[in-house]
Amino acid sequence: MTRLVLVVAAIFFVVGCKSAMGVPSCEYVTSCIAPCISYLTDKGDLGPDCCQGLVALKKSASTTADLQAICWCLKLEESKLPIDWGRAEILPKECGVDPGVPISPNVNCSAIQVYHWQ
Ligand SMILES: *[C@@H]1O[C@H](CO)[C@@H](O)[C@H](O)[C@H]1NC(C)=O
Repeated sequence: MTRLVLVVAAIFFVVGCKSAMGVPSCEYVTSCIAPCISYLTDKGDLGPDCCQGLVALKKSASTTADLQAICWCLKLEESKLPIDWGRAEILPKECGVDPGVPISPNVNCSAIQVYHWQ
């Protein structure tokens, strides 16, 4: 079962999460984080596809508008899922990737700006 989920997630990742032109669409954002869902919802382990998705997201956000679009999409997606916020918080550290957008229920997407963590 877990194996099937991983395979499906991997295919989804390969098909969906390619570098986007312009402001990233919600479809794109969703496909990038698809491999992270089992981890974020406490159903599975963190896999390399998830971290690669974060890298891709980070690369596609070059302006504040890009980042805000990603932020809104993440929030929308997260609102539909039983996210384990503890896991969400440590995900960027676990991957060693800062996606530029906090995965948090309280993030203010209007206030978010392109910045770089240390
Ligand atoms: C979010 O940030 C914007 C811009 O800084 C600010 O105007 C707004 O009041 C903030 N909203 C909340 C709920 O904090």
